[in-house]
Amino acid sequence: MGRVCTAVLAGLCVLFVVAQASLECKNKGSCSECIQTPNCMWCGRSGNFTDESGQNLKRCVKRTDEGVSQWRETCGAYNVYDLANFFEMIDNFELTQAGVLAGSGSASGGGAGGSWSAGSSEAVVQIKPQRVAMQLRVQESYSMTVTFRQAEDYPVDLYYLMDLSKSMEDDKESLSLLGAQLAFEMQQITQNFRLGFGSFVDKVVMPYVSTVPEKLEAPCLGCARPYGFKNALPLTADASSFEAEVRNAPVSGNLDAPEGGFDAIMQAIVCQDQIKWRQEARRLLVFSTDAGFHYAGDGKLGGIVKPNDGKCHLDPLYNNYTHSTLQDYPSVSQINQVAKEHKMNLIFAVTAEQSSVYKELAKMIEGSGQGELTANSSNVVELVKAEYDKITSKVELKDNATAPVSIRYFSKCKSNTEKETAVCQGLKVGDQVDFRVEITVEKCPENREDWKQLIHIYPVGLRELLAIELEMLCDCACEREGNAGFIDRAAECSFAGTYQCGVCDCFDNYLGSRCECGANTTIEADGTFDESSCRETNTSSVCSGRGSCTCGECTCNERDDTAERVSGKFCECTNFLCNRFNGVLCGGPDHGVCDCNTCKCKPGWKGDACMCEDSQDNCINPASGEVCSLRGDCECNQCKCSENENGRYSGKWCEDCPTCKGKCEPYKPCVQCLFFQTGELSEEECKANCSDMFNATLVPIAAEEEAGERLCSFYDENDCRFKFVYGYDENKEPVVRVQQTLECPPKLDILGIVLGVIGAIVAVGLALLLMWKVLTTIHDRREFARFEKERMMARWDTGENPIYKQATSTFKNPMYGGK
Ligand SMILES: *[C@@H]1O[C@H](CO)[C@@H](O)[C@H](O)[C@H]1NC(C)=O
Ligand SMILES: *[C@@H]1O[C@H](CO)[C@@H](O)[C@H](O)[C@H]1NC(C)=O
Ligand SMILES: *[C@@H]1O[C@H](CO)[C@@H](O)[C@H](O)[C@H]1NC(C)=O
Ligand SMILES: *[C@@H]1O[C@H](CO)[C@@H](O)[C@H](O)[C@H]1NC(C)=O
Ligand SMILES: *[C@@H]1O[C@H](CO)[C@@H](O)[C@H](O)[C@H]1NC(C)=O
Ligand SMILES: *[C@@H]1O[C@H](CO)[C@@H](O)[C@H](O)[C@H]1NC(C)=O
Ligand SMILES: *[C@@H]1O[C@H](CO)[C@@H](O)[C@H](O)[C@H]1NC(C)=O
Ligand SMILES: *[C@@H]1O[C@H](CO)[C@@H](O)[C@H](O)[C@H]1NC(C)=O
Repeated sequence: MGRVCTAVLAGLCVLFVVAQASLECKNKGSCSECIQTPNCMWCGRSGNFTDESGQNLKRCVKRTDEGVSQWRETCGAYNVYDLANFFEMIDNFELTQAGVLAGSGSASGGGAGGSWSAGSSEAVVQIKPQRVAMQLRVQESYSMTVTFRQAEDYPVDLYYLMDLSKSMEDDKESLSLLGAQLAFEMQQITQNFRLGFGSFVDKVVMPYVSTVPEKLEAPCLGCARPYGFKNALPLTADASSFEAEVRNAPVSGNLDAPEGGFDAIMQAIVCQDQIKWRQEARRLLVFSTDAGFHYAGDGKLGGIVKPNDGKCHLDPLYNNYTHSTLQDYPSVSQINQVAKEHKMNLIFAVTAEQSSVYKELAKMIEGSGQGELTANSSNVVELVKAEYDKITSKVELKDNATAPVSIRYFSKCKSNTEKETAVCQGLKVGDQVDFRVEITVEKCPENREDWKQLIHIYPVGLRELLAIELEMLCDCACEREGNAGFIDRAAECSFAGTYQCGVCDCFDNYLGSRCECGANTTIEADGTFDESSCRETNTSSVCSGRGSCTCGECTCNERDDTAERVSGKFCECTNFLCNRFNGVLCGGPDHGVCDCNTCKCKPGWKGDACMCEDSQDNCINPASGEVCSLRGDCECNQCKCSENENGRYSGKWCEDCPTCKGKCEPYKPCVQCLFFQTGELSEEECKANCSDMFNATLVPIAAEEEAGERLCSFYDENDCRFKFVYGYDENKEPVVRVQQTLECPPKLDILGIVLGVIGAIVAVGLALLLMWKVLTTIHDRREFARFEKERMMARWDTGENPIYKQATSTFKNPMYGGK
């Protein structure tokens, strides 16, 4: 099926699967439910039905399931209810052979009443078998073969019903002339033929018929009194009396166009004895008219309101219809009803202008046909013959099965392929056709009386039939009082139900496999309890996983520790699943108790594990008297400081803020005196003032390690820097970490520096002096040398100032030989 279920077909498939599901055997709660599902069988064994391992076995299984033989064995063969279809032939007489009836028909001809013995016609068998009995399970179809063969010389009754208003006068003439021919032609078909004649006009009241006295006597020239219906000639084999009766039949007249033909048809059909219809004969009722018909309701025009009762009302003496003016016309369905009941074949032989109306009418009446008459009925013989042939060349099987029983017909007719049909056509007398009849019980009727039915299958227009005594297999014997396996108010069912076929059928307001539950429980289709009432929400587990759901209510589990309890409608409460403080439930019995998974604290305690004292004492800043300095919440008697953009407030009472001056200054002298023995505090003061201030430790390097800690750094009187970090421990007590080493400036050698500087200055001075000395010496030497040179020069110009230069310059040409 999975392959068929494509996405496109998904919708259809869902329906299909749902339909299939109801056909599954498992989950059937009773023997009858199981039996009403095809191919299922039931184990009616009393007591528990379990396998060796104690596992419950299904009581209803499919015949083809695997492990069925083991199942049968466990159940015990005589406890298995595997009802099977059953078929029995009751009457199966052979079909009448051709020629058996030949000769006997003509022998009886002549008598007005006909002398056909019931016995000879009863011997005719055209359908086989005639009576069967069957027991069927729901939706397990049973097929049987029904054979039909039209017997030769089968008796035929033909009653000619004629409209004898004035316009039909010429038709009457034709018919009387053709009567003998009609009889002759029909005797060619069957030697066992009888003919009858009746006529009708209309109800003798206004407005159908003129009730003016003289018109009543003679509505038209040469006409007789009008009348409703007259059975002029009951069926007879004597063709000559037919001729005579037709000729003698009086023509009458009426006023309106439609005639009272339905009254006549009704009487002709239901007055079986007066018309002398034979039980085993094909019955032809030829209805001949040139006008329409009145039908149910038309009687009101003439003041006739009583509906037609569908019974025979013929005057025994005059053979005329006595209730013509007392009862309304019959309806079409009444006509159909009686025609069906009496296996009548109606032939409407009407003139051309009426033929369309009667064609429609023929469709509504089972086994009827319609033919067209000429104006003076000159073709009546051909028409009757043709209609008769039409009727006999066809066999149609019908049945009166109703709703849950469906019957399908299949036949090859005269071809080689079987198709679903209830009609075979083109048959000749003596042709045999087989029908395969498939009978299915769709479902078991609610009403037990309807489980047994008598169904008739009959060929249309014939009295013969196949009777089926059908019994539907809808329950098991063990479900009926007085049989084994049935115990009323059984102990097995908590005395609140009937034990049948191994299971309990609980009384109203009791449910459960042993009727142990009250009616408030709902049970699912598969027989399990609806556990939704055991779930707190539709997603939570049944009874919160701490209990079991019985009869729609939770039974909570017991605990090994008797002090522990599970309670609540959904076992949702415990007295052991509360918060713990220091491993103790709700901080111990002094603090609170565990009630439905939450701690209920005693006075003076709060918190989800009752671990907090219900007090704010520790939160009140002694300086301001405010709770947590209004910068935090007092939780569990401790301040929880809030945060601002600069950081978190700190301090026991949130008195310290990231931008506050903080505790560096107050802590400085104590840190100094405690760790470095410096500062303003003396040893005694230090002991007195610093011992409770904080807990301090020495660390190699003091640095802020956590949020809320602050680094303080100061210089002491020795210009040494000391650092410490303070913060708060979990109890909001100040904690100080002091850097163990001071950071002091290094000591300088001043004398060295001074001497060095002096030495340097002296050295530089000496060097400068030396340089000066060297330079002046060099300069002096040069000056002396120049002086010497000048002095040498001065030998030629002694007494002259060497640096004096005369304004006149005298040149002497050394070449000038004066010297
Ligand atoms: C059937 O089974 C139920 C529970 O499984 C048990 O209480 C009961 O006694 C059994 N009955 C018999 C007849 O074994
Ligand atoms: C019926 O009418 C046709 C002409 O319409 C005529 O030939 C025939 O003889 C008539 N038949 C009888 C029986 O009157
Ligand atoms: C039946 O026919 C007889 C004789 O023709 C007549 O006296 C009687 O009134 C008729 N009955 C009806 C109901 O027409
Ligand atoms: C079918 O008809 C027969 C005879 O009239 C009747 O006894 C039987 O109950 C009918 N069956 C149904 C199912 O109506
Ligand atoms: C069923 O439900 C009604 C109300 O809902 C309650 O009064 C009654 O006791 C219930 N019965 C059982 C058998 O549980
Ligand atoms: C649970 O119940 C709610 C409302 O009652 C419903 O909307 C929801 O679909 C349910 N969920 C399931 C898984 O059934
Ligand atoms: C030491 O403490 C006392 C009292 O607690 C106080 O009077 C004194 O001023 C303190 N000394 C210093 C140096 O803070
Ligand atoms: C210092 O620590 C000790 C134990 O660690 C504690 O008892 C004491 O109260 C602390 N003192 C201060 C001032 O925090």
